[in-house]
Amino acid sequence: MQESIAVAIDGPAAAGKSTVAKKVAGYFNYLYIDTGAMYRAFAWYAVQNGVDPASEKETRELLPSFAMDFQRKGKAQRVFVGQEDVTEAIRTKEMGLYASAVAVHPPVRHHLVALQREMAAQRAVVMDGRDIGTNVLPNADVKIFLVASPEERAERRWKEYQSKGQDADLALLLEDIRKRDKQDMERKVAPLKKASDAIEVDTTAMPLDDVVARIVQVVKQKVAS
Ligand code: DC
Repeated sequence: MQESIAVAIDGPAAAGKSTVAKKVAGYFNYLYIDTGAMYRAFAWYAVQNGVDPASEKETRELLPSFAMDFQRKGKAQRVFVGQEDVTEAIRTKEMGLYASAVAVHPPVRHHLVALQREMAAQRAVVMDGRDIGTNVLPNADVKIFLVASPEERAERRWKEYQSKGQDADLALLLEDIRKRDKQDMERKVAPLKKASDAIEVDTTAMPLDDVVARIVQVVKQKVAS
């Protein structure tokens, strides 16, 4: 049996990655690392400092003072930038787009990828993002690529906002998702793409619990081998 295992879960925005990754991590008691939250936290920090997320130069200059970490509060995981709890603040639509904008800059990626590798070196992890299987952890034991139609993903986001009592326009959410897909897939450095050895799972018509069960099965086989 392997000592430390890494499970990489990649895919486009709102494909169900974080829900699935959290459950798989919980099942095996692995550490869950949400790399999207790291890009969002940096985007939040840029905006707080009056820095344009689209500027490579300005965001690069901000990197040395950027300190973020994940803290466990009971069962929940909170995101901190310095002393500030930004868990909710980074979950807005705008922060999603800003995160996607800062994520095109090579220095930003370089910095955050180094942090991600450091975290994964310490213990068994389930890490989700866009470039985990292709770039961050190319030797991950299990690689999953989650996909779902843009319409289904927009609807999931819409339901999420509704359940939080927030208003959202389905057509605008669909537009945002397409915009983010384009930006994430067409960037030069580490674009969103399925690793050649990843297992693709289409969640459009598949309940997320079934997706979790499928991944748990794959991990169990891997751990036993
Ligand atoms: O998964 P998310 O929606 O929270 O991610 C926000 C943005 O961060 C996403 O649009 C692109 C970027 N990102 C990335 O470039 N690489 C990752 N590994 C994770 C996220």
